[in-house]
Amino acid sequence: MKTTLATALALATIVTACPEHDAAERPAARQGRQANLLADYLPYVEYPQAQTANVTKYVVAARKLAGDDLYAYFARDCIYQPRYVKLDDAAFQSALAPATEVFKNFYFVGQAAWSSSAYDTGDGLVIYDTLASSAEIESIVLPGLAKFGFTGHDIKYVLVSHEHFDHYGGARYLQQNFGAAVVASADCWKALEALSPTANPAPPVRDAKAITVTKDATEVKLGNVTTTIYLTPGHTNGTMSYLLPVTDLLTGDRLLAGMYGGSGASRTAWSLGVQAVSLERFANIARKNKASVLLSSHHSRDRSMYNIEEVALRTCDKQGHKCNLDNPWNVGVDTYYRWLMMESLCIRAQAARGGFILSQ
Ligand SMILES: *[C@@H]1O[C@H](CO)[C@@H](O)[C@H](O)[C@H]1NC(C)=O
Ligand SMILES: *[C@@H]1O[C@H](CO)[C@@H](O)[C@H](O)[C@H]1NC(C)=O
Ligand SMILES: *[C@@H]1O[C@H](CO)[C@@H](O)[C@H](O)[C@H]1NC(C)=O
Repeated sequence: MKTTLATALALATIVTACPEHDAAERPAARQGRQANLLADYLPYVEYPQAQTANVTKYVVAARKLAGDDLYAYFARDCIYQPRYVKLDDAAFQSALAPATEVFKNFYFVGQAAWSSSAYDTGDGLVIYDTLASSAEIESIVLPGLAKFGFTGHDIKYVLVSHEHFDHYGGARYLQQNFGAAVVASADCWKALEALSPTANPAPPVRDAKAITVTKDATEVKLGNVTTTIYLTPGHTNGTMSYLLPVTDLLTGDRLLAGMYGGSGASRTAWSLGVQAVSLERFANIARKNKASVLLSSHHSRDRSMYNIEEVALRTCDKQGHKCNLDNPWNVGVDTYYRWLMMESLCIRAQAARGGFILSQ
């Protein structure tokens, strides 16, 4: 019997609902796995080198700092992700997310695993991260922009948060096809330029329009939007993070957003130490500037997958003072500071799991 996708899905449902169901009726793929059932499960990660006392110290501190309001971020970043890396990856692998205006003139045009955002500045678009490939630009970013009346030719600047393919993968396409100016840190460019000429995706190149960020508080000004860039190495050497003004769609409140460029734990004792310190430093910068909005280059980090659904149900009265729901990205100045400090503790916990000695 030829199994179509529809019948396979129907059978899969029956099997799930009814485990004793005759094996002969299960889809072939599942039958084939009977011989080695444990291979069907995603593994959890073991940390044989863990410094248990330090892991305890940092995780307990992070839990306390998280309180109730940041519990979901704590649970994911400090516990679930480090322990169930594969399950977490699978959950966020290549799912589509709806292109959405999340603040006034600020659009999410990415997918669920990695994000891309577009800011209409009144004088062209600024793009924050470019997904993983030209194909994703064509199939996700450009249709997302089109939904709001823009084309690739409106793009003036492309900010690349760091030298990982899921952030720079579409940048070369935007350079080649629309003449966008690519903005990256000196260390990011250095890493991109060290890639093999046949690297896939092809990285952006430092052409005449490209900008190299070499110092903190570098501003990218376009139209009425100024993005302020900070160097926050650790996740990678070239990671940048941003402060940018945003306007609440319903209340009209003018707010400042922080977009941290790289939260995933790095791998070495040196880079983990650098990463923890960068998070703490940016926490202080964000608090001093009164940043209250939590944005990230991954939907899984800033919970945009949940937030997008929530704001679709949000309404406010005519004056914009009373709303049925708060803006979920606008966590508040103190909470955004605590989130960054908590992320730093999760990085320190991860270093302790790996048995590393941190010098800072
Ligand atoms: C910035 O420019 C956009 C697009 O022209 C406009 O809709 C928006 O109101 C402007 N924002 C401010 C704060 O002036
Ligand atoms: C990051 O920078 C450090 C210090 O300059 C250097 O030792 C290391 O090799 C760099 N890492 C990468 C991946 O380039
Ligand atoms: C764990 O604790 C020891 C002793 O206090 C310290 O030297 C080491 O750097 C700690 N490791 C981490 C990852 O903090």
